[in-house]
Amino acid sequence: MVPKTVRDIQVAGKRVLVRVDFNVPMQNGRVTSLTRLRASVPTIRYLLDHDARVIVCSHLGRPGGKVVESMRLEPVCKEFAKLLGAPVGCLADCVGAEVEATVATLKPGHALLLENVRFHPGDEKNDPEFSQALASLADLFVQDAFGVVHRTHASTVGVTAYLPAVAGLLLEKELTMMARVLDHPQRPLIAIMGGAKVGDKMAALENLLTKVDAVLIGGGMVAAFLAAQGHETGATKVADGAVAFAAAAMQRSHSSGVRLVLPSDLVVAQAFDKDAPARTVRADQVPPGWFIVDIGPATLDVLRQEVFAAKTVFWNGTMGVFEWPAFSRGTRALADILAKAKGTTTIVGGGSTAEVIESLGLEDKIPNVSTGGGATLEYLAGQTLPGIAALATQPVYPV
Ligand code: 3PG
Repeated sequence: MVPKTVRDIQVAGKRVLVRVDFNVPMQNGRVTSLTRLRASVPTIRYLLDHDARVIVCSHLGRPGGKVVESMRLEPVCKEFAKLLGAPVGCLADCVGAEVEATVATLKPGHALLLENVRFHPGDEKNDPEFSQALASLADLFVQDAFGVVHRTHASTVGVTAYLPAVAGLLLEKELTMMARVLDHPQRPLIAIMGGAKVGDKMAALENLLTKVDAVLIGGGMVAAFLAAQGHETGATKVADGAVAFAAAAMQRSHSSGVRLVLPSDLVVAQAFDKDAPARTVRADQVPPGWFIVDIGPATLDVLRQEVFAAKTVFWNGTMGVFEWPAFSRGTRALADILAKAKGTTTIVGGGSTAEVIESLGLEDKIPNVSTGGGATLEYLAGQTLPGIAALATQPVYPV
């Protein structure tokens, strides 16, 4: 269910607290990915254009309830203002007398960004006092931080006890996008699952197996499935839990008729090193002591055929060690295939896969990219996300 959004309420003249996910990668004090900032622009722009007084809040990193200088939001604030094309005041804190005084001077059609909410322990603890202090700055709350709706924090859930709460346009877009996978997909619907964090993806894969027509496995997931079939995985280690999960997934796909497509060939490297000697082998012949680092060309041919035959593709996770150019070929080629498949809608499941799309400059050709990491996976696993549940249970006041 898509909750009510900013379009359903009157915002003119109101003080609107907007939770965004500005948890962006930083290097030496500089923002290295603009994806999440860009994705937050439409809601803030909408509110400014409708004469709201906009108070933006976010976390950055995991400072653990204290001020960490490298996690201040000022550099993010500057980048965001550039993308928004409007000034955004950067505050040195997110609650307290000084913040209240500044907010009191905020004019309709203007925005400011509060300091990192996680500098206060009350945020992650969903502390009522902190929630109330944050909520006291505003008349309305807009949840637009899809990436954090799986957290029960003061800035995602606590504030909704004190303010009328609706979804922002990004949250609405994300939920609409996920519904194209989970609720009313155009078929055939296939899922391509890869990436390194196998454990984090098990629940999502399990739920997807009840929705899709086929699942194609690549990247770090491959070893678990090879091990479950009794094959050698070389030096690539697999946790026991992952093997058991892969075995259960194979069993489920067999009984439900969902095709589970494993790679037929793989690139393996002699050492886990970006310059290590590598070769392509059959997937069931990974040499002892070698590492699985990418999918092979025959597997890519299968992926190409599957993508072009599908109407909807959900993609989460790299096909190999994308950070190392020599082992990024499978992921690059897959992204290229998806960009060219005109009759297929691709939905990308956030996290490192979103960074792949951005680093390859394919945002225009593959526009349905989730800004969530853990949130996307939990949503795909069919779990209730507290930051969304808090909106659905909120009465929308006729303001
Ligand atoms: C993310 O990057 O996935 C979100 O911003 C959530 O961050 P967290 O895992 O630190 O809560």
